[in-house]
Amino acid sequence: MNGVGQAEWARDLAQRLLEPTLPRRWAHTQGVAGRAASLVPILGEEADTLVAAAYLHDIGYAPDLADTGFHPLDGARYLRDVVKADDTLCRLVAHHSCAVNEALNRNLYDALTSEFDEERPELVEALTYCDMTTGPDGQHLNVADRLAEIHSRYGPDHLVSRSITASTPCITAAVHSVEAALLAREAAG
Ligand SMILES: [Fe+2]
Repeated sequence: MNGVGQAEWARDLAQRLLEPTLPRRWAHTQGVAGRAASLVPILGEEADTLVAAAYLHDIGYAPDLADTGFHPLDGARYLRDVVKADDTLCRLVAHHSCAVNEALNRNLYDALTSEFDEERPELVEALTYCDMTTGPDGQHLNVADRLAEIHSRYGPDHLVSRSITASTPCITAAVHSVEAALLAREAAG
């Protein structure tokens, strides 16, 4: 799948994988995709790719395809091996929201980084912005509230919470970079 129409295809796939077993994750996913669609002013035609990646970013949680238990890697491998999705989508899903830090904590850093290269920073940061400004039910949250929500959902000692602490500088930098780009675009009229 390439180019225009990717988002619709991704939506159908993610809905099929997530909605029946993980309806809350599907609600979050739809919120993230909505945020992605709002970035047309700074991404132009590439917003379609970002919306597709937003729909797919958490499919690795789906029981049908969970394997290592590290959802960015499980999702990206499924996209690469089963769905034969294009490289950009696989890479964005693999590295979404500064996933390398959780990969380190799970001893999956080498697997993640050897199998999936980083995408261009503007797309990587945009997906991180969308995910990290959307709550678990799909509602809009500022990044500080989103980080706090993750900490309280998992608890202080959980591997996910420790990974989010390590990722916080990367996440906040991405969010600020996208916000700055949106403001600059607005100022330019
Ligand atoms: Fe995720």
